[in-house]
Amino acid sequence: MNPIKVLIDCDTGIDDIVALSYALKTPDLEVLGVTTVCGNLPTDITTYNTLNALHLMGRDDIPLARGADRPLERPLQDAAYIHGSNGLGGYEFPEKTSKTPVDQPAWEFLHAKLCEQSEPIDILALAPLTNIALLLQKHPDALARIRRIVFMGGSLRTGNPTPVATFNVLADPEAAKYMIATKVPFVMCSLDCTRGSYLTFEELESTRQFQNPVADMVRQVTGFYITSTKKENTVDGKKKGIDIHDLCTVMYVTHPELFEGESYFADVETKGELTTGFTLVDYEDNLRKPAEDKTVYFLKKVDREAYVRYFLDTLATY
Ligand code: RIB
Ligand code: CA
Repeated sequence: MNPIKVLIDCDTGIDDIVALSYALKTPDLEVLGVTTVCGNLPTDITTYNTLNALHLMGRDDIPLARGADRPLERPLQDAAYIHGSNGLGGYEFPEKTSKTPVDQPAWEFLHAKLCEQSEPIDILALAPLTNIALLLQKHPDALARIRRIVFMGGSLRTGNPTPVATFNVLADPEAAKYMIATKVPFVMCSLDCTRGSYLTFEELESTRQFQNPVADMVRQVTGFYITSTKKENTVDGKKKGIDIHDLCTVMYVTHPELFEGESYFADVETKGELTTGFTLVDYEDNLRKPAEDKTVYFLKKVDREAYVRYFLDTLATY
């Protein structure tokens, strides 16, 4: 089967770089470009991390465009407390790249790449949706050139870091609200789903046998994540492993058969004192919206064992 063409928007942090280690190596994807945005860390750091991740993974051939330095309407509340001050839990790249971003800002780069395609393609949105919203605000024609936005974020009843909001929505709720309102086909790889996508400590340790610098990086960055994420996936009070949220999102594009999901109407709270960033997913159809308004395909769960196998088998090939 021909590889699936994608553009990736990220805020490289720990789960972003693990997701990139899969996305840039699997034969099932053709990554046409990568864009960076503020989120986990400011854009200077997410851009530095992503450029060096491309270099580490032997993909200096993939162009990178730098994006927004702040959310659409509010100041950045970053997640350095989870990802560390350098965004990678203190991990240092063995070799620094000399590569720099292309001249265009992310939203112009994304538009140009979309215009080059003979048919609509996927955008993998692993970060707050600021760049994607700016793309559509500045280039409404892009709507017809996007097959799907496959997004990490949203939730039914849980949240992180607030009881109801997930980070990529909370960081820029206006962008998320705008995106969904455009009715662009939107796959919401929810926190409910990614919480089932954990890697166990044993699975992470097993990557030592691969003896390659990318697998070594994965172990180092997730080692920090294990300590910084307090409530990830505990059962009976015991940590089972850690959730690599962005990796789960990429896996949906290459292996949708591993996931369960359903289409719903959804919207985003942007004003609530306690609920800003909450994704209202009408899963009981209380609002009786017409089918054409149910544009959010909400991922509920993933076959964890199969997902982990695909990831580890790919990581071993570096
Ligand atoms: O809630 C997890 C998401 O927010 C991930 O994309 C993580 O990298 C952060 O951006
Ligand atoms: Ca991310």
